[in-house]
Amino acid sequence: MEEWNNPAFARAWAEENPAINSSRRQHLDLLLAILADHLNMAQVPRRVLDVGCGHGVVAERVLREIEGTTLVGVDGSPPMLEMARETLAPFEERARLIHEDFETMAPEALTGGPFGAAIAVQAIHNCSDEGKQKTLASVRTVLAPGGLFLLMDRMRLATPALFGVYHTIWQMVGAAFNTQQLEGESFVEHERSVRERGDKPGSVEQNLLWLREAGFREVAPVQVVGIRALIAAVR
Ligand SMILES: C[S@@+](CC[C@H](N)C(=O)[O-])C[C@H]1O[C@@H](n2cnc3c(N)ncnc32)[C@H](O)[C@@H]1O
Repeated sequence: MEEWNNPAFARAWAEENPAINSSRRQHLDLLLAILADHLNMAQVPRRVLDVGCGHGVVAERVLREIEGTTLVGVDGSPPMLEMARETLAPFEERARLIHEDFETMAPEALTGGPFGAAIAVQAIHNCSDEGKQKTLASVRTVLAPGGLFLLMDRMRLATPALFGVYHTIWQMVGAAFNTQQLEGESFVEHERSVRERGDKPGSVEQNLLWLREAGFREVAPVQVVGIRALIAAVR
C-alpha cells in the first residue's frame, strides 16, 4: 500500500498503465456492459461500490455510461483519492469517496449500501491474502441480495511449466492492442517482476475459492486472457 501513498507513483500509474496492460480496455468494456445489463434487469438498487477506485477513471465511466447510478468509491491512497475527487466532481452528489485500507477495513466502513453491484478493478491483488479475503467478505456483506460483484484483476501465474503459453499470449495480445507486456522472459524473471512491483495476486482457483468462502452464491471466471481475469459473483 505504501507506494500508492507516494503522489509520484500514483500519478505515474495513472498515466502509464493503459500502455502496458493490453487486456484492460477490452475487459473494461465488458465490465461496463455486464454492469449496465445487471442494473437494468435485476431488481437491485442502482448503487455501485468501486473497491480500489484509484483516480476514478472507471467510476467516471460507470456514472457517465449507466444512467441513474450513484457510486461509492473506496481507496487507501490519498493521492489517488485526490485525483478521483477532481475526476468525479462533475457528478456532484452521485459520487462519494471513502478513505480506507483494505487490510484493516471493517464492512461498516462501506456506508451507502446496500449496493446493487460492486466492482474491484486491478486493486485487490495489492493486498495480502488475508486482506483480499477480508475485503471480499466485506463486499459480500454490503451487496443487496441478487447484487453482482465483478472482480477484474491480475491473477498469479501458478503453473511454471506453462510459462511459454502465457508468453505467447502476452506477445499476441500486446501486438493486437499495440501495447507492451512487461512480464519477463522466464518464469523466474516473471515472479521477480511481480514481487518488485509489490503485487500479490492469487491464482484464478484461489480467487474463486475465496469468493465462495466469502459467501457468494454463484461464482464464475467469465473471461480470462493469460493472467488477466474477469470474475463474476452474485450474492
Ligand atoms: C492499480 S490501481 C487501480 C485503480 C482503479 N481501480 C483503476 O482500475 O483505474 C490500484 C488501486 O488500489 C488501491 N489499493 C491498493 N492496496 C490497497 C489497500 N490495501 N487498501 C486500499 N486501497 C488499496 C491503490 O491505492 C490504487 O488506487
